[in-house]
Amino acid sequence: MQNIKIRKIQNTDKKYFAKWWRDKDLARLTSGVLKTINDKELETYFLNILESKKDYHFIITLNNRAIGHISLSKKRIWYETQIIIGDKKYWGKGYGPKAIKLLINYTHKLKISKIFLEVRPDNTRAIRSYKKCGFKRKRIIKYPKNKHLSETLRMEL
Ligand SMILES: CC(C)(COP(=O)(O)OP(=O)(O)OC[C@H]1O[C@@H](n2cnc3c(N)ncnc32)[C@H](O)[C@@H]1OP(=O)(O)O)[C@@H](O)C(=O)NCCC(=O)NCCS
Repeated sequence: MQNIKIRKIQNTDKKYFAKWWRDKDLARLTSGVLKTINDKELETYFLNILESKKDYHFIITLNNRAIGHISLSKKRIWYETQIIIGDKKYWGKGYGPKAIKLLINYTHKLKISKIFLEVRPDNTRAIRSYKKCGFKRKRIIKYPKNKHLSETLRMEL
């Protein structure tokens, strides 16, 4: 049985991010920044998310094995969610939408309802998976100064 859960991020999870944040295919689908981060940057970025007081960071597990990261960050009255399934062999199996639905259940307990995300307009797999969770296409947002990600599609729950 494939048991998807989300659990709070912990100190020992840095090793997963060391892999995921250095994966070029993941970078192409997300930030677009292909420069490999060094150990010091990894430590800084990881501590930022581990110690964040206003954001929620979860590890996605499949039968207790860490396979990805899902987060919720406060952006004024909205919360932004971001997700990666880190290991490619777990893409396209429906695990992403399962994890998103678990996060949405969690937000109900926190009385959070205004949730959005931004995705590359050509990331068809991600957009399909978000639609399955109830997200609707809203608008294209332009970032003319960002040479790695010049536009995103905003979707809202
Ligand atoms: C995006 C992501 C979270 C989606 O989770 P997932 O478990 O892979 O999603 P699903 O298995 O439900 O697949 C979603 C849909 O895309 C379709 N799909 C699968 N592979 C695809 C591909 N290569 N191209 C286009 N669509 C594809 C699936 O058929 C499914 O649609 P359907 O259910 O209508 O048939 C996950 O793939 C991932 O983390 N990818 C890498 C990082 C990333 O893109 N993150 C999102 C950044 S905004």
